[in-house]
Amino acid sequence: MKEVRIGMIGVGQIGKIHLNEYKDMEGVKVVAIADVDPVALKEASDYFGIEQTYSDFREMLAADDVDAVDICLHNNLHMPFTVAALEAGKDVFCEKPMAGAYVDAVKMFETAKTCGRMLSIQLGTLFDKETKVAKHLIDAGHLGKVFHARSTGFRRRGRPFVDGYGTEQFVQKSCFGRWVVNDSSHRSQSRVNSKLIPRRFMCERMLSVVVWCPASAISSCTTLAPCVG
Ligand SMILES: NC(=O)c1ccc[n+]([C@@H]2O[C@H](COP(=O)([O-])OP(=O)(O)OC[C@H]3O[C@@H](n4cnc5c(N)ncnc54)[C@H](O)[C@@H]3O)[C@@H](O)[C@H]2O)c1
Repeated sequence: MKEVRIGMIGVGQIGKIHLNEYKDMEGVKVVAIADVDPVALKEASDYFGIEQTYSDFREMLAADDVDAVDICLHNNLHMPFTVAALEAGKDVFCEKPMAGAYVDAVKMFETAKTCGRMLSIQLGTLFDKETKVAKHLIDAGHLGKVFHARSTGFRRRGRPFVDGYGTEQFVQKSCFGRWVVNDSSHRSQSRVNSKLIPRRFMCERMLSVVVWCPASAISSCTTLAPCVG
C-alpha cells in the first residue's frame, strides 16, 4: 500500500496529540506542518523531526508531496481550511466538531463530493468497543425498533479554557463554534450551564419523555435533576 503523506494544519494541543499518534502508525507519514504561531511550529518541528514547516497553510496545500491534510484548528476555521484543502486536491481529516455552524458542515460535505476527495471528521468514540456493541445490538434487532436515542457529552463541566485546559481562543466568538439553539459564545453558554448545574452536584438524574404523535411527529423532552453526590 502506498504511504499517505500528511500535512498538518495547527500544531496546538490536539495537533501534537495527532502527531504523536501518527508516529507509530503504519502507512502514514507526516511530511509537513503549518501554523501561524512560529513558536508552536518550531517546537513541533524539533520534537517530531518534521522539516517542512509553513507559516502560510496555502503554501503547504500547493506542495505536491502532501496527499492528505489533518486540520487541528479552532472550530470556525474548520470550514474554510477544509474547503481550501479539498479544492487543492487533498483528502481531509478534520478535528471535531465538524464546523461552527450547520451550513458550514454542509459546505464541507458538498465540497468533498464535488471535488471527489475523502473527508473524515475525528470522532474517536465511534470506534470504542461500547459503540460497536451498541451498533451490533441494533443491527441484530436485539433492541427492536429504535425510535429515540439520547447522547450525552462526557465533558459537561470540563469546559475548554474556563476550567483550566484548552487555549483562550475557545472563548472567542471568531473561532469557537456557535450553538444550534442560540447565538451565544461559548463563554455565555458556560455561564448558563454553571447556573443550571451548580458545582456541589456531582451527578444527575435524567427523565426523558418521548411523545409519539399519530402524524408521525415525535416530540422529546429531557429534564435533568441534579443529585447531591
Ligand atoms: N484540546 C482538546 O482537548 C481537544 C479535544 C477534542 C477536540 N479538539 C478540537 O481540536 C481543535 C483544535 O483545538 P486545540 O485544543 O488543539 O487548540 P489550540 O489553540 O491548542 O491549537 C490551535 C492551533 O491552531 C493555530 N492556528 C490558529 N489559526 C491558524 C491559522 N489561521 N493558520 C494556521 N494555524 C492556525 C494556533 O496557532 C494553534 O497552534 C478544535 O476544533 C477543538 O475543538 C480539541
